[in-house]
Amino acid sequence: MLLITAFFIILLIFFCFTGIIPILYWKRRKVPHLMAWPYFGNRISHVFHQHTMLDVLNKHYQAFREKRYFGFYNMCTPVLILRDLKLIKQITVEEFDSFPEHRRFIPDELDRLWSKNLFAMRGDEKWKSMRATLTPFFTGSKLKMMFGLMKSCSNQFTNHFLSQNQLVTVELKDAFTRLANDVIAITAFGVSCNSLENKTNEFYLMGKVISNVTGWRSSLQNLYQLSPTLYKFLGYPFYPKKEKSFFENLVNEIVKLRKNKGLSKVDVIHSLIEAKNKKDSILTNEDITAQVMIFFFAGFESISTMLCYTCYELAINPDVQENLYKEISVALRATNGDITYDMLMNIQYLGNILDESLRKWPPFNFIDRCSIKPFTIKPKESDEKSLYLEAGTVCIIPVLSIQRDPKYYPDPERFDPERFSKANKQVPYFSFGVGQRNCIGSRFALLEGRLIIAELIRKFKIVPVEKTEIPLVMNKGRNNAIPSNGFWLGLKPRR
Ligand code: HEM
Repeated sequence: MLLITAFFIILLIFFCFTGIIPILYWKRRKVPHLMAWPYFGNRISHVFHQHTMLDVLNKHYQAFREKRYFGFYNMCTPVLILRDLKLIKQITVEEFDSFPEHRRFIPDELDRLWSKNLFAMRGDEKWKSMRATLTPFFTGSKLKMMFGLMKSCSNQFTNHFLSQNQLVTVELKDAFTRLANDVIAITAFGVSCNSLENKTNEFYLMGKVISNVTGWRSSLQNLYQLSPTLYKFLGYPFYPKKEKSFFENLVNEIVKLRKNKGLSKVDVIHSLIEAKNKKDSILTNEDITAQVMIFFFAGFESISTMLCYTCYELAINPDVQENLYKEISVALRATNGDITYDMLMNIQYLGNILDESLRKWPPFNFIDRCSIKPFTIKPKESDEKSLYLEAGTVCIIPVLSIQRDPKYYPDPERFDPERFSKANKQVPYFSFGVGQRNCIGSRFALLEGRLIIAELIRKFKIVPVEKTEIPLVMNKGRNNAIPSNGFWLGLKPRR
């Protein structure tokens, strides 16, 4: 009996320390928050697939309308969600020295290849130097040089459907993921794939695995938020082993081949090899692999999601699609039917459509910053007190909730590219992040977006078909807004 009582007391103490005390964090600091569950925090309904992460975040965002910030529990990890735009600017831009990095997904030592990529790197001198090495790759002149490579992929893509000479019903997420794969493979590694024809090419299969953080890999992420110590003990890396060695071997081979044959190409690997060959450089093949892998990781999902939502909105807003078709036709007449870099950049309406699509459907619902030193948020409102944040505090910017807030975007559910016309330019806009840690690939992504949408619209009408869900039904297991049944749409040749 005594033994059983002792066992239950120990269990109770364990429960208090691991389940209850963590969710008293914001109460102790007098930060407004909603009631949280032991271990699952405020994400319980998302973890058990009852609500999407977006619903959960929105519920909290709406509950604290008058507040500049509020507390939230990502499982057992307390995070501060920022609502106020000035505070967001302060944390992400002005106080960059205190908040220079993203939150951890796993302990650095468990996966060196993950922790060495630009996104995961600590906000130190190494990150600064890597960012400076990669930035020139995304300048206008470099993108212009790469435009030809992108164009060959987009031509291959549209011709694949055009050759069928009839209305084709396509699941666009799959199709655009294949296209995004081909573009990243050729621009990062100089390798061409044609994944629509070569359905099981290794690049596509490997890229799909590393960029897919659902199911088992998403549960591991939850485990890390629940208990970093337990995660460390289990020791799971972020990237699966097989895919990791595929990219490691590939980079080693490419580096060797280019050195032996003196080959020079317009791709990311080339820029990185040049940086590695510089005097005093401390770059290794592992650093190069880490960067090209994050480009795969970042480019695969986000670009295909952007393209899917843009096509979906064009299909259900035929007037917007017709306006765009007219603008593209006028521009094409001036170039004798050739899609050029300059011509694409000058179609303002095309840019507005992509901006509006990314406003309404940002591929990342939220972004984060993690502090490396203590920081105090000074009170601004009468009901606020100074809030001391210790080093390691995670702040979240709820991108989607802000971009659907009628305070900033009236009638937010309406797809209206005019919001982004020169006269109407709207703030706030966080789809590519904010401040020094913003997305390095945004110009690349928007160029690819402009090119693919222009190629598609000139050749096809994008139409809803029987399988098209209106409205889309979202997958409750995902962190970002992705429909459960994919994006089914029809491509109807214009001639
Ligand atoms: C529509 C497509 C894309 C979207 C919506 C997107 C969005 C984002 C966002 C929200 C962040 C975090 C920014 C922040 O914390 O402030 C980010 C970071 C990043 N993105 Fe993108 N991204 C896209 C495409 C790309 C592409 C194509 C690449 C590479 C070729 C890329 C590479 C990166 C990298 C390396 C970072 C980390 C930057 C750093 O920490 O210094 N992204 N992206």
